[in-house]
Amino acid sequence: MKALNEMKITFPSLSCNEGLARSAVAAFVTQLDPAVDELIDIRTAVSEAVTNCIVHAYPGGTGLITVTAKIYQNGRVQIKVKDRGIGIEDIKQAMEPLFTTGGEERSGLGFSVMESFADKLRVKSAKGKGTIVTLEKYISMQHRQGKQF
Ligand SMILES: Nc1ncnc2c1ncn2[C@@H]1O[C@H](COP(=O)(O)OP(=O)(O)OP(=O)(O)O)[C@@H](O)[C@H]1O
Ligand SMILES: [Mg+2]
Repeated sequence: MKALNEMKITFPSLSCNEGLARSAVAAFVTQLDPAVDELIDIRTAVSEAVTNCIVHAYPGGTGLITVTAKIYQNGRVQIKVKDRGIGIEDIKQAMEPLFTTGGEERSGLGFSVMESFADKLRVKSAKGKGTIVTLEKYISMQHRQGKQF
């Protein structure tokens, strides 16, 4: 299915860019006139996904992160957060609540947060090649009356 609108940003995995990614996606989604809660959900999920790339994908260095957001019919928003870093060996284990390779600084709850704040979460990863996290969120109809999408 063809997207009605889309955007793409690429930036280095610096922690100062987490806010940029979160705000860029939020600004893009604003055209659907989302409810405050819906926007908070999207910002939170994107923040966790991008933070994971910043913290885990490129140990000891930096690499690129690409965030794409697409709007489809019926208020469906799809967001992809992609890196070309170390990848995740065991996705199922990584997604378990409290699992972390990040030591004491991390709580291992990022994927759980994404799962509860997005309507759909998909993780694709290959060791040494990188990771793609796909988040989907539906923006409710009542907030789109009179809107293009
Ligand atoms: N983009 C990524 N590249 C490589 N490994 C990742 C990536 N995202 C997640 N992981 C792995 O999955 C684990 C679980 O991620 P999750 O976000 O749930 O927890 P966390 O990042 O460790 O802690 P928290 O998000 O609570 O600060 C990470 O510890 C890491 O091992
Ligand atoms: Mg995390």
